[in-house]
Amino acid sequence: MAEDIREEAAKYYDAQPNPTVDIPFYRARIPSPLADVLELGCGTGRVLVPLADACRFIHGIDSSEAMLARCREKLKAAGIAENKAQVTRGGISDFDLGRRFDLIIAPFRVFQNLETDEEVDGLFECVHRHLAPGGSCILNVFNPKRSAEEMRRTWCVPEEVLEWEKMLDGGRRLARFLRRPRMDTEKMIVYPELVYRRYDGDVLEDEAVLKIAMRCYYPDEFAQLVTDHGFTLIDRWGGYAGEPYGQGPELVLKFSE
Ligand SMILES: C[S@@+](CC[C@H](N)C(=O)[O-])C[C@H]1O[C@@H](n2cnc3c(N)ncnc32)[C@H](O)[C@@H]1O
Repeated sequence: MAEDIREEAAKYYDAQPNPTVDIPFYRARIPSPLADVLELGCGTGRVLVPLADACRFIHGIDSSEAMLARCREKLKAAGIAENKAQVTRGGISDFDLGRRFDLIIAPFRVFQNLETDEEVDGLFECVHRHLAPGGSCILNVFNPKRSAEEMRRTWCVPEEVLEWEKMLDGGRRLARFLRRPRMDTEKMIVYPELVYRRYDGDVLEDEAVLKIAMRCYYPDEFAQLVTDHGFTLIDRWGGYAGEPYGQGPELVLKFSE
């Protein structure tokens, strides 16, 4: 497996203001307490850990060992046994767990990290292979605020901007900066760089940079992509507060075979 691009930044993932509003959304979509759930790109278990007690079994896959190590620690701290929740290292476009699931999810825009058509096709093939009869999958991407043309013109900026900062235990300060240096304007893939800096007073103690790819999808295009891969759309949302599809900050699609 390729190098772990999250090795340095994983320790700050759970400190950032993540959208906890999606956790009750995914919890409510677990069809029964007897359901088996698969999370693609489970990361530190932000969603996986609180979902574990609402299903029979939850499995998480992620390519980052650093993120998974944190997830395993959280499962252990919560006293969640291995017959209830497991995580394995792997790519979400190319895995075979040899079993099927009633619900497959990929919260917090994981799908957008897939840059190539081959990876996207691979993910949908994996979903076909792992969905139980009657099961469903929910994928999420952000809803681009700007038109494609405007994105191409304005996404890249020379300066670094402060996104948020917060105090940590022990009086340290954690700040996250965003750089927007590069975009593939043909494939509509943006390459943000997330820079975490931890300070003790004014002294910079640590810096971790995470460079990711985010492939952009517009509402109709995202829905079409799902049906083009042989699935039937069941439901759609524009955000986790129930916004109409295409009108909120997120694009969320639920589909089945
Ligand atoms: C933004 S985090 C989301 C983590 C978690 N789903 C959440 O909601 O907090 C994206 C995660 O997807 C994982 N990821 C991205 N591309 C992946 C791939 N091709 N295969 C496996 N995991 C991947 C990353 O390692 C990272 O942990």
